[in-house]
Amino acid sequence: MNVLVLVGSPRSASLNARLAAAAANALPDGVHTASFDLNTLPLYDPDLDALGNLGETVIAFRAAVSAADVLVVASPAYNGGMSAAIKNAIDIASRPRGAAPLLDKPVALLTAMAIPHTGVNVLEQLALVLRIAGARPVGAGVAASIVTDFTEAGVADPVRRQLDALISELLAAAATGTEDRASAA
Ligand SMILES: Cc1cc2nc3c(=O)[nH]c(=O)nc-3n(C[C@H](O)[C@H](O)[C@H](O)COP(=O)(O)O)c2cc1C
Repeated sequence: MNVLVLVGSPRSASLNARLAAAAANALPDGVHTASFDLNTLPLYDPDLDALGNLGETVIAFRAAVSAADVLVVASPAYNGGMSAAIKNAIDIASRPRGAAPLLDKPVALLTAMAIPHTGVNVLEQLALVLRIAGARPVGAGVAASIVTDFTEAGVADPVRRQLDALISELLAAAATGTEDRASAA
């Protein structure tokens, strides 16, 4: 099982990165986790894509998404929405149409934010956008408050329990997809 963790904040002290790390800690032994620095990606350009000229970083990113069985995506709330880094990454991995790296991938959604209701909005936006991109968001996601839900060691217990449940849903979704493909073959 390969899990790709994507964090939509460029901050070195990112709480979304900390939330994503806490989610990765809930994965069972033997699961391989990888990450990709979304700040290295250029803004998606369909013209360059049509020319097959998107560059090595985009090719490497699409390969990383393709190689993943499931994804964990963490986005900050920026002005009520997901960050541009996450949206750009989703746009890049949503093409080529019909053979997109994101196609059918189960995705667990996370956000660390300041204002709880915007966290709900971010999770709903992420689910909507990922579904349109062909992925399979699982569960409702986890929204963690940067004010109350982080400790020096990681995340507060209620959030830790939500992460455990979300990771269980993610692994179950991966298994369901595999069975579906096997029975369809
Ligand atoms: C440009 C900008 C806009 C923001 N807008 C919101 C917002 O609409 N709602 C919210 O809850 N937090 C908002 N925040 C706060 C961030 O979500 C918060 O600082 C979070 O910790 C950033 O994620 P990071 O710690 O992973 O970098 C905003 C922060 C920035 C920089």
